[in-house]
Parts: sequence; C-alpha cells; structure tokens
Amino acid sequence: MASESQNWVLMVTAQTPTNIAVIKYWGKRDETLILPVNDSISVTLDPAHLCTTTTVAVSPAFQQDRMWLNGKEISLSGGRFQNCLREIRTRACAVEDKKKGIKITRENWSKLHVHIASYNNFPTAAGLASSAAGFACLAYSLGKLMNVKEDESQLSAIARQGSGSACRSLFGGFVKWIMGKEDNGSDSLAVQLADEKHWDDLVIVIAVVSSRQKETSSTSGMRESVETSLLLKHRAKEIVPKRILQMEEAIKNRDFASFSQLTCADSNQFHAVCLDTSPPIFYMNDTSHRIISIAEKWNRSEEAPQVAYTFDAGPNAVLIARDRKAATLLVQRLLYYFPPNSDDLDSYIIGDKSIAKDAGINGIRDVEALPPPPEIKDNILSQKYKGEVSYFICTRPGRGPVLLSDNSQALLNDETGLPK
Ligand code: DP6
Repeated sequence: MASESQNWVLMVTAQTPTNIAVIKYWGKRDETLILPVNDSISVTLDPAHLCTTTTVAVSPAFQQDRMWLNGKEISLSGGRFQNCLREIRTRACAVEDKKKGIKITRENWSKLHVHIASYNNFPTAAGLASSAAGFACLAYSLGKLMNVKEDESQLSAIARQGSGSACRSLFGGFVKWIMGKEDNGSDSLAVQLADEKHWDDLVIVIAVVSSRQKETSSTSGMRESVETSLLLKHRAKEIVPKRILQMEEAIKNRDFASFSQLTCADSNQFHAVCLDTSPPIFYMNDTSHRIISIAEKWNRSEEAPQVAYTFDAGPNAVLIARDRKAATLLVQRLLYYFPPNSDDLDSYIIGDKSIAKDAGINGIRDVEALPPPPEIKDNILSQKYKGEVSYFICTRPGRGPVLLSDNSQALLNDETGLPK
C-alpha cells in the first residue's frame, strides 16, 4: 500500500435513479438481511428528474469512514450502512494507478477508510423513495471504487441490505426483485425485465401531496403488518405470485389495460393490508383518495384505461399515463381539481414541463380557464381543492445507474476528500 505520507485520493462518482413499485414489497421474512415475503416489480424513474448522485473516495489520509447527505454530515454507525460497507469490502479487488502512485491490494481495503457524499436532486422530505436511490448509489459507487467484479444483480443484493426497495434501483426500465429462497439471502436480488426503451410511451406524473402528518416508517409499518395482518399472509402466498406473472406479461406485451388494472389493484391491496394491521396504519389521506376517484372516474368514462395510480408509504400519488396524449389530459384534470396556491406555475409543475405546454397550460390564466372534465359534466358541485397538492413532477421511465466521469460533478474535493 502507498505509505501514509502519500496523500492521494481515489474517487468515483455515480448517479442512480429512484423507482416506484407497481407490485409492492411489504413485509420481511428476515429483518437483518432484508429478505421479503414476496416478489415485487417496479418502474425506474428518469434520473433527470429524480436521482441520487454519490461520490465515494478512499485515501490513506482518511482517519475514519464518514458520510455527508445533502451537505450535512450523518452517522454511518447504523447497521444497514455497516452491512453494505462490509459486504462491498469483502468483495474488493486490487486497484493500481501507476501515474498517481496508487497501489491498493485486495487485503489493504479492510484497513482503508472511505468518505461518501450523497445528494438528492429532489426534496428528501417529500417521501419519494430517497433511501432506494441512496443505497443503490452507495452500493454501485463503492463497487466501482473497490473494483468489485460482481454484476448489477449481485450488487443489488448488497443494496438490498441497506433498504429493500433499493435493490430495484440497480437497473433501468422495468425491474423484478426476486424474493429468493436461501436463508443467507444470496438469491434475493433484482433482475431487469425490460429496459426503459421497451415501453417509452408511458408518462409519469407524481403529485406531491401536502401533509402535516408524520408517517410510520416503511420499516416499522411492514414489521407490524407481518406481525398482525392475516391479509398480508394471504396476499404474499396466494395473490402476489399470480400477479407477478400477469404483470410480467403485461409489461412484455405493453398491455396498458392489464398493467393499469394490476398496478391500481396492488396499490389498493397494499393499503388494505395497512388498514388490516393492528393498530391500523393510514398512509393515504383525503387528497390521495380524491386522486384515486378522479382517475377511476376518468378511466371508466373511456373505452380503455388512460391512467394507473399507485401510492407508497405516504400520501403522494404516482400516476402513470398510457401515452403523451393521455398525460396532457391527465395534467388538465389534475390542475383543474388542484390549482396552485400561488401564481407561480413554474415551480408547481416541475420535471418535464413540455407535458403542461402540450396541454395548453403556459400560465395561471390557462389553469383558471380549464373546463370541468367531461366525465363530471352534469355535476354542478365539481369542487376544487386548492393547496392540497404541493407540486407535480412530470417524468418517465428511465435508465439505471451510470458513472459520472466528469470531475466537476464530483461532490468531494479530489485533493482533500472533503465536501466541495
Ligand atoms: C411501500 O424499502 O423503504 O415503498 O426495506 O425497511 O428499508 P426497508 O423498506 P423500504 O420499503 C418500501 C415499501 C414500499 C413498496 C415498495 O417500494 O415496493
């Protein structure tokens, strides 16, 4: 190993997407290894709008492992971080960079400390699966830094030990987390079902719902469901295995009617399991329920479903429109019911703003002029719910993790190894 006096810093920066489950993971059979009670399937979201960027660095000058999240130092002492770090370190291989005078043998890695800086391009507090992108990015970037030879699926089994849903963020497009059978978790990993180009008609609109309520964390919520819900047992054993096969077919055939029916049914069943938990857990609120009604009413008024909805452990709605045309009609409906609190439309619809433009919405006047959706024409009481949605994010299915080779995108200084 290079001597302590050689203060080189070796760094890697990566970007990893977040994902939304369309067949939900809810319940563990092993809490430490994070092994689920059923398979799950997700869509990876475009990292242009929602992603984590992580820089990992190693240097003989570092005294201890340290981590910064969105610029603030956080503790790495948690079991989940430690498990991920240990799993990556045991797979580390030799690295040599003659030009920089860096030589790290396999054995050296256990003695070297790392610095980790992570940044989310979306509000961490918004309840948008930041831990999924975060742990996926940690496993991916450390794997690259330490010259780990394992493929993405094997890395996903390491990310899984940080947060279950993180394993599905190692791939783009459509991803299945296979629950596995082994007690040691070696076969509980993610595989890609189809890449993001396979079904690129889909448009995703996320409604970030205003909420004052502190939600039960997924980890403790699912623990309570496993302990008390009989519906969860029935779901994991009888329902999900069939749904997984149907969902795989729907994705393969780009069959939106089936995709949408399965996605909505599975989200609703997950929230039914939460209600079946003792004491019951409420993740959706009145706004979430309104969004479901709007989508259901619209789908029923059309010949074929136009939009699917799904909700994780919080009130935010993730809406998946069948194509761009449906997305513009969806945005018109959403803005009709949930107009912004202020005139600032630019910060109310973020991400891919071209969807709102295509819907003819360029300013607050256009929102005010929106007619009621035809499916409620006879309903004089077509109420509006100003302020119930904080903002909308327009996005689409996206790619998996990538390395960022441009040093200007690194979050750590390449001389000091400290946050820039
Ligand atoms: C409702 O992956 O956050 O989003 O494994 O305990 O970290 P831990 O839980 P987490 O749970 C996600 C649950 C969900 C459904 C899903 O993403 O499949």
